[in-house]
Amino acid sequence: MERVDEVIEMRSDAAKQRADLLQLMLEAASREHIKDKNDDVDEQYIAKKLTYDEVVANVFLFMVAGYETTSTALAYCTYVLANYPEEQHKLQEEIDEYFSQNENETDPDYDVVNRMPYMDMAIKEVLRMHPIALSPVINRECTQETEVCGIKITKGAIIQPDVYSIHFDQELWGPQDVNGFCPERHLTKRHPLAFTAFGVGPRNCVGMRLALVEIKILLTRLLKQYTIVKTDKLEENLNITELTVITPSEIYIKLEKRQQ
Ligand code: HEM
Repeated sequence: MERVDEVIEMRSDAAKQRADLLQLMLEAASREHIKDKNDDVDEQYIAKKLTYDEVVANVFLFMVAGYETTSTALAYCTYVLANYPEEQHKLQEEIDEYFSQNENETDPDYDVVNRMPYMDMAIKEVLRMHPIALSPVINRECTQETEVCGIKITKGAIIQPDVYSIHFDQELWGPQDVNGFCPERHLTKRHPLAFTAFGVGPRNCVGMRLALVEIKILLTRLLKQYTIVKTDKLEENLNITELTVITPSEIYIKLEKRQQ
């Protein structure tokens, strides 16, 4: 956060400004005291302005929310693919087919990876089986007393959904066994709240598209050249724990160079 303060200071020099998210936030920020609606009803409050503390806090949140999550998701992808060679092979076929039709392409970009439907389903299936965000991350506060499926929810109650119960619910995700990796199950339209890896509603993950593109580009590059292979240490060292995110301790895989 100190570093962000320094960068903000630097940006006050017009020559050091850039076209990026931080600059957009700085343009929306004000050093004036911003009054909250609850402060004093008689005084005017400045609407739609960020405080400098909010800018710093948002940059910090982006770093925390953006890096560990995406790298952990990639780690789970390698774990699952090592265990499911057939599905990994299908993914490689999709990647190879794209490059055989587009020989001039050397590296995948945004458009390329968005034309790989099996890849999209495979990543979602990895995140269904291995959600990353802890339950408190997707909690919601009830603002008005309500009843859901006969259960009364009082105003102010904090609802903390158990992601595993939802993601492994056979009724929501069947008929294929929910304990198995089956990307094709995502071809079926599911309940809108059945997949909560990125949260739901207007406050869901703002970085979802970026994260998916990052993961797709990396997997495309990796699987174009290598096959992920299981090792003896894979299961014994996995040890999934809850830290900042739900994370494996170690993932031991082997990369075998593919015959081109
Ligand atoms: C696989 C990667 C990721 C996963 C699984 C993930 C998951 C989540 C989840 C579950 C939430 C809570 C949503 C809710 O309450 O409904 C969230 C919020 C958020 N995520 Fe992500 N995220 C990922 C990547 C990213 C990236 C790359 C960024 C930024 C570059 C990011 C930025 C954020 C921010 C700023 C929020 C708070 C949104 C708000 O409160 O309005 N996330 N994320």
